[in-house]
This record gives sequence, C-alpha cells and structure tokens, in this order.
Amino acid sequence: MTNLYKKKHSETVTRRAMLGAVVKILTLLGLGFVAVPFIKFLLPGFEDDLSMDIDISELGINESMQVEWLGRRIIIYRRAEEILNNLKESADGVLQDANSMQSRQPGFAKNPFRSKRPEYLVVYTNCTHLGCEIAVNPDAQQSLIGFLCPCHQSNYDYSGRVLSDQPAPYNLEIPNYTFVAGGIVRLLPSQSA
Ligand code: FES
Repeated sequence: MTNLYKKKHSETVTRRAMLGAVVKILTLLGLGFVAVPFIKFLLPGFEDDLSMDIDISELGINESMQVEWLGRRIIIYRRAEEILNNLKESADGVLQDANSMQSRQPGFAKNPFRSKRPEYLVVYTNCTHLGCEIAVNPDAQQSLIGFLCPCHQSNYDYSGRVLSDQPAPYNLEIPNYTFVAGGIVRLLPSQSA
C-alpha cells in the first residue's frame, strides 16, 4: 500500500516537473514573439543591417548583373525599350500566369514588368520547379525567352514569367527592394504590401 502511494507520489512529481518545463518553454517562446517588434522599434537599424545596396549606375541596356544576398542569388537585368513593348503584349496562353496571380512578388511588382521601374528587373534566380539556378538567355535579344533553367528546360520571359507547358509551376520570385539616390537598388528583407 505504502509503495503504491510512493510510486503515485513520484509519478505526480515527475509529471509536475515535465509540465513546469513545458510551461517555461511556452513562456519563453511567447516572450520571444512579443520581444521581436520591441527590438525592431528600439533598434531601427535591426532590419537595415540585412538590407543591401547595389550600384546599377554602370549597367548598360540588355546587360545584367548578379549578387548574392542572404544566401540566395539575384539577377538585375536592364531591359531595352523593345523588350518592354513585348512584355506589355504578352498574355495567358503563352504564359502560365501572365498577371502573376499565383506568384510571389511585392505588391509593386504585380504588373507586366514585375518591377518598380519597368527598365530594371530584380529577380531571384531559383527556378520554381526544383530550385536550380536559372541563367540569362545568351542569344535572346529579340526572343520572348529571357531566362532558361538548365535542369529541366523551363523557360521564362524577361519579367521572369514562366511560359506555358513548362515543368516550373510559377513565375520567378521577386524580392522586396527600393531605389535610392545615385543609381542604387536597395534590397530589403521585409515583405512590402
Ligand atoms: S529545376 Fe528548373 S526546370 Fe526543373
């Protein structure tokens, strides 16, 4: 009888200890969620530290450059007037998602150019099929295809919109960014509306 009581008592103590540990973990997690906005408020540079400035002032028409940012690669492409005119005319049928309804981009990039300023495309290089690095089409210029995926041959136009009947399901992802004075593109870690 006594042993049963002791056993019951030790089980209760163990359960109480476990419950206490779970409560502590949940409390710490909760405090973490509450603390992050305060840290951002108190340290305005918190997010700025993750942003990156890219000088595009030397980028010529139909030229591109690539940068690494937060573990991912980004292409910046300066599009010619002729390309911009073609992009305005492209539509569903040729493209899987001409209006970028299913694709990931900031609100300002939900347009045929998928950019803040039509001339410049700023886009992640990960193919939306299995994530391979896409490349700029070397013989494009007059072609509809701006970017190619070497893994399973998905083709994207000069706005990073995937053509119809390709393995890739979505348009290329667009990061959040803004233009600042002096020909600088600033990549921003936070999502914009
Ligand atoms: S990873 Fe690009 S087509 Fe498969």
